[in-house]
Amino acid sequence: MAFVTRQLVRSMSSAAASASAKKITIKHVTVIGGGLMGAGIAQVAAATGHTVVLVDQTEDILAKSRKGIEDSLRKVAKKKFAENPKAADEFVAKTLSSISSSTDAAAVVHSTDLVVEAIVENLKVKKEFFQRLDKFAAEDTIFASNTSSLQITSIANATTRQDRFAGLHFFNPVPVMKLVEVIKTPMTSQKTFESLMDFSRNLGKHPVSCKDTPGFIVNRLLVPYLLEAVRLYERGDASKEDIDVAMKLGAGYPMGPFELLDYVGLDTTKFILDGWHEMDSKNPLFQPSPSLSKLVGEKKMGKKSGEGFYKYK
Ligand code: 3HC
Repeated sequence: MAFVTRQLVRSMSSAAASASAKKITIKHVTVIGGGLMGAGIAQVAAATGHTVVLVDQTEDILAKSRKGIEDSLRKVAKKKFAENPKAADEFVAKTLSSISSSTDAAAVVHSTDLVVEAIVENLKVKKEFFQRLDKFAAEDTIFASNTSSLQITSIANATTRQDRFAGLHFFNPVPVMKLVEVIKTPMTSQKTFESLMDFSRNLGKHPVSCKDTPGFIVNRLLVPYLLEAVRLYERGDASKEDIDVAMKLGAGYPMGPFELLDYVGLDTTKFILDGWHEMDSKNPLFQPSPSLSKLVGEKKMGKKSGEGFYKYK
């Protein structure tokens, strides 16, 4: 009898172990932050058959996010259903109907598969946020941060689910850019990592993996390049207009570095640079840029504020 019980316990625990190692199929996603990135992630998730809840602090912000999502969806639908305007309208309506919104993250995460956070780039704020949410989310729920500059491990350590915590880094504009960086910390489980790789593929994106290293892959290469362009301009070697034209026509980039800086947001780039400078103040690639600091000091953040290196209507 004891033998039978032992066998039963053994087979039950091995079934439990293999079930727990099985990847999660992510169907329900909670996106925290209705800014450009959060709204883009919510849009792409809803357009690819996921149920989405978008969370931000006020109804006003959420209404603005929804309007941005609708405008972007119309662009996507126009291309996707060029010959069939009725199907385009249906696609927009169906996608929008898959996105609900809330101003209370804790109240909506009890049964979500994945929380993707895209809020302000502030470590303290992100840690406090995830620490609180950890108490309300289901045991299996995966947490992911879309941070472009902060260490995923530091944010994950604020929770009790370090094995179910990873980075999921999207690119602006999310509906167009095909890449997602999936960041595995030393504590991220293989199951979490693979669930997020599958989720990224289900979004129609191409995932790449990277360790929890500053800037991951893209920003580690892109930000020094953008700053080198600014230094070239600061030295008076070439005008920003000519630098932009040169990189578009000579290197095949879709945008010149100054256009891209304005598009990404000068505050975002400065924040990334400041963090790296603090970490390694001797690295010449991480030195502060006087023109970038001046523009950010004048609240000229780029396209979103109407002025950066260029002026926008
Ligand atoms: N939603 C949906 N579709 C959009 C869109 C949006 N928000 N923005 C552009 N599109 C579509 C347009 O409808 C258009 O479709 P079409 O080919 O059927 O006409 C297509 O994309 C091209 O758009 P436009 O004709 O308006 O303009 P461009 O040809 O100049 O393309 C761009 C715009 C896609 C933004 C292109 O200039 C580009 O790829 N720029 C580089 C962007 C980039 O490098 N992003 C990464 C930044 S780094 C980052 O995000 C990381 C962070 O951590 C800092």
